[in-house]
Amino acid sequence: MNEKEVIYEKVLHSIDVGVHVVDSTGKTIIYNKKMSEIEGMKIEDVLEKRLQEVFSFHHNSESTLLKVLQNREGITNVRQSYFNNKGQEITTINNSYPLLKDGLLIGAMEIARDVTKIEKILQDHIYKNEAKVSFASLIGDDKGFLDVIESSKRATRTNSTILIIGETGTGKELFAQSIHHNSRRASRPFITQNCAAIPETLLEGILFGTKKGAFTGAVERPGLFEQAEGGTLLLDEINSLELSLQAKLLRVIQEKKIRRIGDTKDRPVDVRIIATINEDPIDAITNGRMRKDLFYRLSVVSLFIPPLRDRKSDIPELVSFFINKYNQLFGMDIERIDPLLMEYFLEYDWPGNVRELEHLIEGAMNLVHEERVITVSHLPNHIRNKPPFSQKGIADLGNIEEHKTLEQFLKEAEISFLKRALRQHDGNISKTAKTLGMSRQNLQYRLRKIKRGNLKS
Ligand SMILES: Nc1ncnc2c1ncn2[C@@H]1O[C@H](COP(=O)(O)OP(=O)(O)OP(=O)(O)O)[C@@H](O)[C@H]1O
Ligand SMILES: [Mg+2]
Repeated sequence: MNEKEVIYEKVLHSIDVGVHVVDSTGKTIIYNKKMSEIEGMKIEDVLEKRLQEVFSFHHNSESTLLKVLQNREGITNVRQSYFNNKGQEITTINNSYPLLKDGLLIGAMEIARDVTKIEKILQDHIYKNEAKVSFASLIGDDKGFLDVIESSKRATRTNSTILIIGETGTGKELFAQSIHHNSRRASRPFITQNCAAIPETLLEGILFGTKKGAFTGAVERPGLFEQAEGGTLLLDEINSLELSLQAKLLRVIQEKKIRRIGDTKDRPVDVRIIATINEDPIDAITNGRMRKDLFYRLSVVSLFIPPLRDRKSDIPELVSFFINKYNQLFGMDIERIDPLLMEYFLEYDWPGNVRELEHLIEGAMNLVHEERVITVSHLPNHIRNKPPFSQKGIADLGNIEEHKTLEQFLKEAEISFLKRALRQHDGNISKTAKTLGMSRQNLQYRLRKIKRGNLKS
């Protein structure tokens, strides 16, 4: 590089706007540091690559850079949302211009300002009617799951408080939204507040409102109870609410009146409360995270959403649902997941429940190139290295920490080994037995034993 180029380069990476330049074929030739921060990408992952290889766009929208290349016209102040190669959504405001030399198109450049963070903050603080979901969009045929839907539908007819119990990612928010949406309160606000996300001192004011001058800097402001008037207030992670606030909440629910901090006047409120808890309420009470009296008051209707590992028969339908969802979102055409991957999905424990499944599908679809089928190879590394996804099988001695006896370990190893061998031969017993150097009868005997549960998997 000559001196001038060094200076240009220095300037390029020091300025506070994103710069992205592609050549006339859509290949990136300049990509500055700010742009890489905005998009969460490494510079070397974008440089010299074609845009479509690196980013995906919502269906029926496309890259402004490519549009400029096509139309040879600048586009200014356009808001654009798209996904980086980790599936994170990015929102920018762009100015894009064609680059011409002697009348010939040699590329396009984009100057971008990041608004992802600003939009997020604004969204988080605008309390709007957020209940977009209804029961029809809840996927699942498992008996236990359908029972919860039934109970929830019955609960739409009343104003009773509801406690939704379920591990993270089981769909508590979806249930709360569906209940609101199908109740007489549907046209009124649905407001969510996470009790763990905000410091206690602020939370009280947020929930009940403040009177001007109640404390230094306090302004006259209605709380969420007043804002949700006639609608539903979802209090997420109620077990994180400080006990003294739990007592205040109990009083509000019983008296149907609130008092803004610093005020002397009570105000009547008509709000349906739905609370969620992601642990066993009995544990929460025993360990002093939840007041017993509040629990009784909240759990007039209690809904327990089963974890995904207890309703694995729903996995195939959920998989198709999410493939469809992201096909539309990404403008892709994925058909299904590979049968081997489905087998692993059915074995896996899903600690993050439906959310984890959704993220896996979304992540995998970001890594698919031309293929129409998602395979194990499209999963992120941290998952691929975990059983049952890891192919290490017998050699995986990591399990020793689980204090297995040798006998247990050998049993499990045998099951995993036989399953894998059978898979390789498409389930053909004779061929598998031959490869394993055993008789057909012996293999059949062992498989029957596994089926009967003598060798528990
Ligand atoms: N039965 C389902 N059908 C379709 N999508 C589902 C279902 N259950 C959960 N999801 C999806 O999984 C994700 C997590 O759901 P949700 O936010 O309702 O879980 P949650 O129980 O509130 O989790 P957390 O305790 O972490 O807040 C969402 O993207 C949701 O759309
Ligand atoms: Mg939630």
